[in-house]
Amino acid sequence: MLPTPQRFRIKSFGCQMNVYDGERMAELLGDAGMTAAGDGEDADLVVLNTCHIREKAAEKAYSDVGRLRRGDGSRPLIALAGCVAQAEGRVAMARSKMIDIVVGPQAYHRLPEMVAEARTGARPIDTDLPGLAKFGALPKLRRAVPSAFLTVQEGCDKFCTYCVVPYTRGAEISRPFAAVIGEAHGLVEAGAREIVLLGQNVNAWNDGDRGLDALIRELARIDGLERIRYTTSHPADMSGALIAAHGEVAKLMPYLHLPVQSGSDRILKRMNRSHSADSYVRTIERVRAARSDIAISGDFIVGFPGETEADFEATLNIVDAVGYAAAYSFKYSSRPGTPAATMEDQIPPEIMDDRLQRLQGRLAEHGRAFNHACIGRDTRILIDRVGRKPGQMIGKSPWLQSVFVETAARIGDMLDVRLTDALPNSLGGVTLARAQAA
Ligand code: 5AD
Ligand code: SF4
Repeated sequence: MLPTPQRFRIKSFGCQMNVYDGERMAELLGDAGMTAAGDGEDADLVVLNTCHIREKAAEKAYSDVGRLRRGDGSRPLIALAGCVAQAEGRVAMARSKMIDIVVGPQAYHRLPEMVAEARTGARPIDTDLPGLAKFGALPKLRRAVPSAFLTVQEGCDKFCTYCVVPYTRGAEISRPFAAVIGEAHGLVEAGAREIVLLGQNVNAWNDGDRGLDALIRELARIDGLERIRYTTSHPADMSGALIAAHGEVAKLMPYLHLPVQSGSDRILKRMNRSHSADSYVRTIERVRAARSDIAISGDFIVGFPGETEADFEATLNIVDAVGYAAAYSFKYSSRPGTPAATMEDQIPPEIMDDRLQRLQGRLAEHGRAFNHACIGRDTRILIDRVGRKPGQMIGKSPWLQSVFVETAARIGDMLDVRLTDALPNSLGGVTLARAQAA
């Protein structure tokens, strides 16, 4: 029998929902008497909280497991968590003898007891998808960062033909209204100034006839909570009520992450996206009518099976039509078990590389234009990091840009600034007090 692990390390990859889960697991292990290993400190339990969305991310999980062997041949107890664990289960254990525990995203509340089982040499696996059990069992938070994640919805019923999420995270499920509001109060009491509502399809969140807009309006009533954001949304679930909230709720930040994936209707159909290029652009127009300064960000896939040069150009066109402030773009990655994996006309890697480069060039132009248009604006930032230069702090603008400013303000403070410089991936600013004195 192995001794009880004293120090743990949790490494989260992929989306923000994994970051949230990683934080909750850390609290759980803390409550079970373990402490988080500091930088450079050795851990005797390592949790790899993995991502399965693209092949590269999934393969990384196994190479990371291999690297945990120490110089003297010993190794920590290893738990494979997250979406690779969910998708591969027993196969993962067969593939790497070093994996002691396989725990899927809905079973984290069982982690401490699984660690105890693993100490006896058993190799416990739990990849059940019991719905909301983990949330009820997770401990109460004691200390929160200024911008805290709060998962309100998990899973996906959309079945885009390229995507593993409906299989790894299960069906769409929403946490109850009261549970979310309760957790939000806890986060604010623990120091959060901003809450980012998370879900694979966060705008599909509902509790009876209440939608995400109602949840946001209730959160906005919490004293001490300054900002609300949500991600990721599906175009088909962008309700009129949610769009209206962008114009009416001051604490709801002017930023919307709304993946489009492609600008070609033919490809969108093959992707089973349930929206067209045109209906997507019309949704953006309605959002902008409610909140004219909103920053739009998106996700794109290039090289989906059958994508022609003309299809790709339609994607460049929608980029120009929307004018994205920020974006994430990926080469299509074939995922086992998804319908797209067996479609004809898979695109050669060199064409994907070329299209990705061209798309990213175009997206970068729009990102720079958006940042430049912010120069001269007076706004408020939430300080979340210390800058590299002495006296420098970094905060987030309402549009999610990082803003560098010289100030005595501290992490967690809201600071009024004038935006003065646009750098490639951030902005420079001065405190409004200083700008007005100059
Ligand atoms: N290949 C490439 N990108 C993918 N995404 C999801 N599945 C795949 C895949 N098989 C991208 C989509 C999604 C984001 C989270 O990851 O753009 O919005
Ligand atoms: Fe995947 Fe599509 Fe669901 Fe997003 S909406 S998680 S891309 S299946």
